[in-house]
Amino acid sequence: MAIADERSPRNTEIAAAVSAAYATHRADSGGANASYIPYLASVDSSLFAVAVVTVDGSVHVAGDSHVDFAIESISKLTTMALAMSQIGPDAFHSKVGADPTGMAFNSVMALEMHSDLPLSPMVNAGAMASTSLVVAKDAEDRWRQILKMQSEFTGRDLQLSEVVNSSEQQTNFHNRAIAWLLYGGGAMHCDPMEAVEIYTRQCSTMISAVDLATMGATLAFDGVNPVSGARVVESELVPHLLAEMMMEGMYTRSGDWAYTVGLPGKSGVGGGVVAVAPGELAIAAFSPPLDEAGNSVRAQAAIADVATALELGLF
Ligand code: DON
Repeated sequence: MAIADERSPRNTEIAAAVSAAYATHRADSGGANASYIPYLASVDSSLFAVAVVTVDGSVHVAGDSHVDFAIESISKLTTMALAMSQIGPDAFHSKVGADPTGMAFNSVMALEMHSDLPLSPMVNAGAMASTSLVVAKDAEDRWRQILKMQSEFTGRDLQLSEVVNSSEQQTNFHNRAIAWLLYGGGAMHCDPMEAVEIYTRQCSTMISAVDLATMGATLAFDGVNPVSGARVVESELVPHLLAEMMMEGMYTRSGDWAYTVGLPGKSGVGGGVVAVAPGELAIAAFSPPLDEAGNSVRAQAAIADVATALELGLF
């Protein structure tokens, strides 16, 4: 593990940018909690956190940075990393794809327009296909490996929330329909209902903004978790993960995000968003109210401010 010098000039700038973004956006209104999953509708909408973790392992936080929230779609990233590391990036690419759908994250139409094949692991169809590609002997083995990968990315033993999971398992009919369409198209690589069940569980683990920034920092640090010091994913796989984030990580706002912020990002309907500045740091933010695309309103604004203040945009 690298020893961070919290007093370096760059760390002083980062701390100031995190505090300023939090102060600027803590009273922002706009957006609404996800309502299609009962648990998410019930979370306190005023929660707000900003966190940065750098590749030298220094951590900067503001607000509710240790409050746990549901990982949701951000799990798509870690399951992609696991499946890709097992079957290789070329096989993963040919089976799941890398293009934006231009449609909602749970769009059935996007599948219908492409012969029931997923285009991207960052939308539900491709994410469930990724879950089905994990090499596992049974459902529990698939789940154990996925949870382990999430825990390695965060450097902490994550837990499933029974409350979130049961709320989601009871309402995941739309995803079950998508899984059967994938099965019909030959793009589901285990029993489709097993894939939905495990995908739903993988969305139901609880993380904090610090965990999320650590996940991002692991990608910024070429696949090594800068806090635990452990290699989580091979460095040659990291560009593929970042490319998928850039193309579809913010759903139908991915292009706007690339244009304005210029960093690979990933969001979840639990209110978390993470952006990666390769080689330097990751910025995470959490707040439950979402825009129409499913991205946290305050988290996007805070991350954009930090990225601008630190001049992190890649383009
Ligand atoms: O598949 C679902 O509906 C959720 N469990 C996760 C979706 C999600 O986070 C999409 N988000 N922005």
